[in-house]
Amino acid sequence: MTINRLEINNPKFQILFLSVIFFVLSGCAPGQLGLNNSGQYRNGMVVCAYPDAAQVGLDILKKGGNAVDAAVAVQFALAVTLPEAGNIGGGGFMVYRAGNGKTSTLDFREKGPGAANVNMYLDSAGNVIPNMSLYTHKASGVPGSVDGMVEAHRKYGKLKWADLIEPAIKLARNGFKITKHLASDLNHTAGQFRKLNPGKNYLVKEGEWKEGDLLIQEDLAKTFEQIRDKGRDGFYDGPVADLIVDEMKLGNGLITKADLKNYHAVWRDALVGKYKDYKIITMPPPSSGGIALLQLLKSVEPYPLKRWGFNQDSTMRLIVEAERRVYADRSKYLGDPDFYNVPVDSLLQPAYITSRMKSFNWDAATPSASIQPGSFVGYESDQTTHYSIVDREGNAVSVTTTLNDSFGSKIFVGGAGFLLNNEMDDFSSKPGVPNMYGLVGGKANSIQPGKRMLSSMTPTIVEKDGRLFMVVGTPGGSTIITSVFQTILNVIEFNQNMQQAVASKRFHSQWLPDEVTIEKDGVDSTTVGKLQSKGYKIVTTKSIGRVDAILKTKWGYYEGGADPRGDDTKMGF
Ligand code: GLY
Repeated sequence: MTINRLEINNPKFQILFLSVIFFVLSGCAPGQLGLNNSGQYRNGMVVCAYPDAAQVGLDILKKGGNAVDAAVAVQFALAVTLPEAGNIGGGGFMVYRAGNGKTSTLDFREKGPGAANVNMYLDSAGNVIPNMSLYTHKASGVPGSVDGMVEAHRKYGKLKWADLIEPAIKLARNGFKITKHLASDLNHTAGQFRKLNPGKNYLVKEGEWKEGDLLIQEDLAKTFEQIRDKGRDGFYDGPVADLIVDEMKLGNGLITKADLKNYHAVWRDALVGKYKDYKIITMPPPSSGGIALLQLLKSVEPYPLKRWGFNQDSTMRLIVEAERRVYADRSKYLGDPDFYNVPVDSLLQPAYITSRMKSFNWDAATPSASIQPGSFVGYESDQTTHYSIVDREGNAVSVTTTLNDSFGSKIFVGGAGFLLNNEMDDFSSKPGVPNMYGLVGGKANSIQPGKRMLSSMTPTIVEKDGRLFMVVGTPGGSTIITSVFQTILNVIEFNQNMQQAVASKRFHSQWLPDEVTIEKDGVDSTTVGKLQSKGYKIVTTKSIGRVDAILKTKWGYYEGGADPRGDDTKMGF
């Protein structure tokens, strides 16, 4: 095409020409207004642990739903497509930041049933009965996820409730094609499903599951219909509640009709702290995650991490030493704030955190046995899943939700088709006795009726200069806190983009046991040698966490990070 002088002077041509220049400069192709050529999106984004659920969230955003609408739809879709962690029989936490900067958090963590008591997992000699808090009907706390979603939607939702549940009903009723990961997880757990669920055939089949098999869950679809039509009463009252209580009676479980009726999610003020120029908005107790994350960031802030570099020995030593001290505090001071006076302000005092790091020296590792929870004046006394969602208005949602172990207690509610959590194991069954994550606790996290068990879930939102910067979270039990911490450092200190930051190899230490767990091939052998020579016990593991996160670039685009360790998927428009 030749451009003659006449066309250049033509106003229509000038507008077209300027538009092309604008799109080229902004990295955006005409016709794809939401996407630039770096795979970043302008209008909204969903990052979660299963492709079909990400698609559900994206569809809701495209229909004009906001981030909370999409979160509700994703939560129910994950209950179908990610049965090991997505759930309606568990609980979780949501951290919310509106486009105008207002923040809040929603606690829909499970609660101890009314008949729970401090010694419920101990034998007559006072010893913990193995697996009782994990794979029995007594392992389940009163589920919070459905009330959490109802409450989030009531406060912030835009689309109709029924429209948010419908995609999950379709996925459950028509089925969806399972991934290789899910096929393997289902095959791996089939024996336990059969043993713990006589007479039920949920998630099992003749022969082995294969990638691409269709998984249909008709009873679950019917349960969703109750929730679609009756909201919270569709779960906490009526036929579904009857089925839950019948299931409890069958296995000597504790959850009653009254427990279900009395369950209510709670809005709590976000826990807010600073790391350099960044504002960290995170989950307060009953999660330990937010406090621990802020303590960790403050512990390492004075040191030149950027100069030392990613996963180098000085960086790792500093982080491990901070983690030892923070997890020691967790064991003593963290619990449900509605039952226990958690000393949040004292734990986050900069002078206290500095004093905790004073015993760190470069000559040798500080043995965990020599570290005790700190003290301060005035003090009286896999699996989980995460999704990050942002919308066109800049509203951001960070949700971590869990059944605790993979597939929770592995016990289904007969007739209702969903799995029950085994969150009671997150309480301290006995002071000093480790739970399934090796975490120890005491009075602050002792079992009481109506109390929420301590969590490590750390859904977090980061702000810079008053603007949204990052939405981040992960599953991984006790490793959640350190995975979120390292992902934030990867972006802020080590200049990684969002995808690199979630994919980067991680390491973890939690005071007890006294060791440092490193992802396979995550740290070079020279660095491992240097750490060992200073007294650090190194163990390797296949993977730590599955972080799903979104970064907002300074140009206003959303850049996703979907963890390659799983089926995690990012979708935007
Ligand atoms: N169930 C894992 C956690 O909440 O930390």
